Amino acid sequence: MTPIRLAIVGCGAAARGCHVPALPPLVGDLQLTALIDRDPRQARAALDLYRELGGADADRVVIATDPAEAADAFDAAVVVVPHTLHAQSVEPLLAAGKHVLLEKPMSTSAEDARRLAARAVTPVLAMAHPRRLFPAYAWVKRLIDGGDLGEVVRVDWAEGHPYAWEPVTWSMFDRRLAGGGVLTDTGSHVFDTLLWWLGPDVEVVRYEDNSLGGVETDASSHLRFGSVDVHCECSRLRDLGISCKVTGTKATVTIGTDFPAGECSLITADGVELHRGDVDGVAPAQDEWELLFTEQLVNFAAAIRGTAQVHSGPEDGVRVVELIQDCYGGGTADERSAPQPWTNARRRCGGRPLARRPYRGRQPARAAS
Ligand SMILES: NC(=O)c1ccc[n+]([C@@H]2O[C@H](COP(=O)([O-])OP(=O)(O)OC[C@H]3O[C@@H](n4cnc5c(N)ncnc54)[C@H](O)[C@@H]3O)[C@@H](O)[C@H]2O)c1
Repeated sequence: MTPIRLAIVGCGAAARGCHVPALPPLVGDLQLTALIDRDPRQARAALDLYRELGGADADRVVIATDPAEAADAFDAAVVVVPHTLHAQSVEPLLAAGKHVLLEKPMSTSAEDARRLAARAVTPVLAMAHPRRLFPAYAWVKRLIDGGDLGEVVRVDWAEGHPYAWEPVTWSMFDRRLAGGGVLTDTGSHVFDTLLWWLGPDVEVVRYEDNSLGGVETDASSHLRFGSVDVHCECSRLRDLGISCKVTGTKATVTIGTDFPAGECSLITADGVELHRGDVDGVAPAQDEWELLFTEQLVNFAAAIRGTAQVHSGPEDGVRVVELIQDCYGGGTADERSAPQPWTNARRRCGGRPLARRPYRGRQPARAAS
């Protein structure tokens, strides 16, 4: 079997933290042949890492600043550039017949996402939605599909902690590169999971965030999937924990949403505990972080060879982007704006304006009597 020649386009934090470490075990299936970044230092750092990890044929990897420069060196690409550059990076690759595994979210506009999906008829376009391979997420999917929860009636998702990812550019904090904040970033994983578990019939009941024209750090969404009420809270600042509870008429399942999922539980409506603790990674789910991305690439290669369906395809990417856009675009600007003491005083007191008092500066501390 001739290995598929693979490029990585965008060699920053996610390329080095997720995709490069996944490559060395793939000998014979996929071969890294090009590292492309408009900042050559990032491509060189990715090559150093690949070499350090024992990657094959490191000396033959082409370094380039643009995919067109290295077009003869690869057949398929993992695209790991900032969000607003996804569509413009992927379109010429697909047009040149290159297969693409694209990081989330598919794009920052539903129109672009739909156009990419329409283009991806012959080359494979796969979405990087690795949470589908988290053991606990796959377990919940099996429980829902198998009817173990009865009819699902409600989902509560809370995922918040001080921001800890370290992108090498401002890609996550500058709206021109990020497109949005925590909803675009973390929310694209959350929404893909919900669509995977509950199906595509979804409407936005209420959404609010604190973007104020920048990138939001906090986003709160109330969605309805068919008859299932879903409440999601995501934050890059507040410690909200990392948990998801899916309540059904027969049982309730709770998982941690990070990797690994931590303690999971399954409790019947009568209070009988059926499960508590870890969940085994049933294939294609994986127990090790690097193996998630190896499995994603193995699946991508199999889809290119026509021997498997992708774990997540363009239609999944489009649905996620549409739902994010429905959140950002729904209601009035005032309804979307989360209450904050200095901007939304009227909404914090049930519509009545708060009495305004002039700010008199910090008062001296009173001595304890
Ligand atoms: N799957 C996951 O768990 C996960 C985790 C983090 C990030 N991501 C995704 O990965 C993508 C990148 O995020 P990141 O954290 O690596 O960002 P980053 O800023 O660290 O890296 C982006 C890289 O892209 C390069 N770049 C920018 N424009 C380019 C262009 N036109 N052509 C080639 N290279 C270009 C930058 O120089 C930089 O090296 C985003 O889509 C993000 O959502 C996924």
